[in-house]
Amino acid sequence: MIPDKPPQDNVFHGSEELKKEAHVPSFDKYRELYMKSVDNPDEFWGDVAKDFFWKTKHTGQFLDYNFDVTKGEIYIKCMEGASTNICYNLLDRNVHEKKLADKVAFFWEGNDPGDELTVTYRELLQRVCQFANVLKAQGVKKGDRVSIYMPMVVELVVAMLACVRIGAVHSIVFAGFSAESLCERIVDSQCCLLITADGFYRGDKLINLKLLADEALQKCRDKGFPVGRCIMLKHLSKEPEGIVGSQSPPAKRPCPDLQQEKQAGRVKKTRPVPKVPWNPEVDLCWDALLRGVSDECEPEWCDSEDPLFILYTSGSTGKPKGVLHTVSGYMLYTATTFKVVFDHQPDDVYWCTADIGWITGHSYITYGPLANGATSVLFEGLPTHPDVSRMWEIVDKYNVTKFYTAPTAIRLLMKFGNEPVQRYKRSSLKVLGTVGEPINPEAWQWYYNVVGEKRCPIVDTFWQTETGGHVLTPLPAATPMKPGSATLPFFGVVPAILNESGEELEGPSEGYLVFKQPWPGVMRTVYGSHERFESTYFKKFPGYYVTGDGCRRDKDGYFWVTGRIDDMLNVSGHLLSTAEVESALVEHEAVAEAAVVGRPHPVKGESLYCFVTLNDGVMYNSELEAELKKQVREKIGAIATPDYIQNAPGLPKTRSGKIMRRLLRKIACDERELGDISTLADSTVVEQLFQNRCCTAV
Ligand code: WT7
Repeated sequence: MIPDKPPQDNVFHGSEELKKEAHVPSFDKYRELYMKSVDNPDEFWGDVAKDFFWKTKHTGQFLDYNFDVTKGEIYIKCMEGASTNICYNLLDRNVHEKKLADKVAFFWEGNDPGDELTVTYRELLQRVCQFANVLKAQGVKKGDRVSIYMPMVVELVVAMLACVRIGAVHSIVFAGFSAESLCERIVDSQCCLLITADGFYRGDKLINLKLLADEALQKCRDKGFPVGRCIMLKHLSKEPEGIVGSQSPPAKRPCPDLQQEKQAGRVKKTRPVPKVPWNPEVDLCWDALLRGVSDECEPEWCDSEDPLFILYTSGSTGKPKGVLHTVSGYMLYTATTFKVVFDHQPDDVYWCTADIGWITGHSYITYGPLANGATSVLFEGLPTHPDVSRMWEIVDKYNVTKFYTAPTAIRLLMKFGNEPVQRYKRSSLKVLGTVGEPINPEAWQWYYNVVGEKRCPIVDTFWQTETGGHVLTPLPAATPMKPGSATLPFFGVVPAILNESGEELEGPSEGYLVFKQPWPGVMRTVYGSHERFESTYFKKFPGYYVTGDGCRRDKDGYFWVTGRIDDMLNVSGHLLSTAEVESALVEHEAVAEAAVVGRPHPVKGESLYCFVTLNDGVMYNSELEAELKKQVREKIGAIATPDYIQNAPGLPKTRSGKIMRRLLRKIACDERELGDISTLADSTVVEQLFQNRCCTAV
């Protein structure tokens, strides 16, 4: 399963320096631990579990599961009988037992340089407990769902951990999503409360988050699902101009005093503040709610398999799926992967550039790092603001040792050459990581040679929202690296490659990437639809968890993930389903039918190329094109904005009426080699589409 010997040819090795202190210092050690993790998971994870606090111990075997739909319902249970609280493990233990009270948990770096805050473990614990008490006072109970729609601020971590402390289930919605998307997610998970902020800046662009939140809540009301409470953090607005009109918060919930905010570095005098409409029936001010509230709060002890959080990810049928993770397995898995894959050491300063609104931020900004008592940078801004050196400026400012980002960010910065990187020293860096999509070898080389100066191993971590944590990844001091390969499985993970008929392929091969057994951090269900969970991941090949990715294994046993083989697109490391974008387009009155495909893009990985068939009598023009673009942005969010829209009087279809996306992908890329088109009902359609291709992005 794991090669006996590490590969020798064309590989890069981790630094000797790192090997001295690493948790897993050699390939042999990796191999030994891996074998133990699959041969004797009870003992392997039992040892890991000793580092955590359990209110009650688990009974029976460590993992109990059924991965075979033909044998009954799919289930995964980890550490049944045990009870714990993750917030207690992440904060109280670090403060009280591990003597990390004064250690920095987060260096918050705002959108604009100079805007910064530092939060220690002690302060984080106090703030979380206080806010947990606020949630309790609002009637939030164990098991209730709470929706969080916030920018990258410390309070986002506070809100999520406050939920965890009282056993409530957070459902974080990335602040780049639209009001419509937020509403859809609130309704699907039946959230009782929304936590948001007034607004934030992305570079120079003001995002009026509260306006979007209000719009979402109105849509919820329209759908017959009124949400009773909305807590708003004042991140940008200052009293009194920030609150418009007569709708200021009532006197019993006054907003905080300006002086305090100034001291906290919050007030940005030079930038306009957002408009904050206020609905006294529903809205509550974060700071006002905190006044006089105790900073002590008993944690709610939760069973291992109690829900921890829901996070939505695109589904190939269009409707997003609420991926559900549970308490114990997720905690152990994110803590262990973080420790081993980034080789965490006590004096590290770690920085993951992802947004907490995605799984990368959940697992590797909040849960994994805090479980290890790590110090992290929490960055609100953009890699290009105020200039393209910002990332490296931050690396030097905080002496970042472990840095984790996405191939799309690397490709973006690569375009500007080496000088903006070399303007800063980066001598603190030890390990570099990447996640989100396959990294092209050119970007890998640049990351390795220029950013890391050939000193830092690159951990190319393959995983998914569903897997909870890394599943294929090198370990920085143990696994020789090959540019573009996520290399080998993490502990407890058993990958296989299947052909179309579901047979396991041995040796060098290419096919469907699947997993044969669960690991602690794998998702447990799709919230509200266990049937959808089973049909999406377990139906195609009974006995296996199907990732939806294609994968090649080379002669050394290394895995090379080749990308999605379902109707999903990966735009800048974010998954989108073609169906989701198509349904946003056809909701426009002018559109009869739409088909969306991915077209390779040098920075984003893939861009969205949309074919639209208009209703009879409607003229295609630039105005309509702009409207369609806006429509998709409003329905889904800016990440789904079409790059190309082509008027398609006809779409290539099979005789049975199925759209042949394969041909549309060829048209989008202007590739004339079409392969077998015998099933095509009308071949003149294809020629017409080639003639009217869009050459420039809209
Ligand atoms: C999909 C999961 C996991 C956090 C970010 C995305 C692709 C992710 C890699 C990688 C090749 C990768 C896959 C996967 N992907 N990391 N290192 N190499 N492909 O989470 O939105 O759930 O997307 O991202 O296609 O299935 P997600």
